[in-house]
Amino acid sequence: MEAKAVFGGSPCLSSSLPRLPAQRTCSLSYTHKPILRAILHDLHLAAFHSKSHLFSYSPSRPHAKTLSHKTRIFLPHLVASMEQVEETYIMVKPDGVQRGLVGEIISRFEKKGFKLTGLKLFQCPKELAEEHYKDLKTKSFFPKLIEYITSGPVVCMAWEGVGVVSSARKLIGSTDPLQANPGTIRGDLAVQTGRNVIHGSDSPENGKREIALWFKEGELCQWTPAQAPWLRE
Ligand code: RTP
Ligand code: MG
Repeated sequence: MEAKAVFGGSPCLSSSLPRLPAQRTCSLSYTHKPILRAILHDLHLAAFHSKSHLFSYSPSRPHAKTLSHKTRIFLPHLVASMEQVEETYIMVKPDGVQRGLVGEIISRFEKKGFKLTGLKLFQCPKELAEEHYKDLKTKSFFPKLIEYITSGPVVCMAWEGVGVVSSARKLIGSTDPLQANPGTIRGDLAVQTGRNVIHGSDSPENGKREIALWFKEGELCQWTPAQAPWLRE
């Protein structure tokens, strides 16, 4: 069976393979016929051993010699990295753990399409809670906040993605759950500021700072999700 693929807007023949997202196929601009022939050769022979094969530059492949420096093709995740991949620290607070909301909360970030790079259940010591919330040290609610965060285990998470910091804050909703929009985590799952179930970093800088604070070296995991090509062109 034959399927059609589109490169640079021109229809051409390819093998009977799973369709790549349209954006993916259109994002490559091939002006050299030898390159196009090489790609089609791969499509035909490799029968999609791996989708990333199509978009990678490999000097060991014979046709790679036809690729000049300017026409190298990059892996999607390398393209994403050029779009400023951010990290954010997300934490299910002790009330979220006690109320059995961990799965629900993780699921919202997974479904959105961000990448989990760190995850652990952890009893937070007082010193760490104070360091984490040090900007709020002068607030009258600070002692109660530290008592709350250390009152039981929390679930620490590191999430990664383009725009993940502000997007996570939107998914989380306003600090006061009664002001948080329905559909947000706090808007759906909480009723009081002092029990607002989740924390999210408020800037990319704090994302890095907090992940370094809560995770030791070796606790984070770098990986490439299989769904990556279906989330970003
Ligand atoms: P978080 O840091 O935990 O993600 O919360 P946030 O940015 O929405 O709010 P922030 O101003 O950073 O406050 C940190 C946490 O302190 C508790 N809080 N209590 N009683 C109060 O008036 C009050 N205000 C804040 C909340 O648990 C808040 O999430
Ligand atoms: Mg905050």
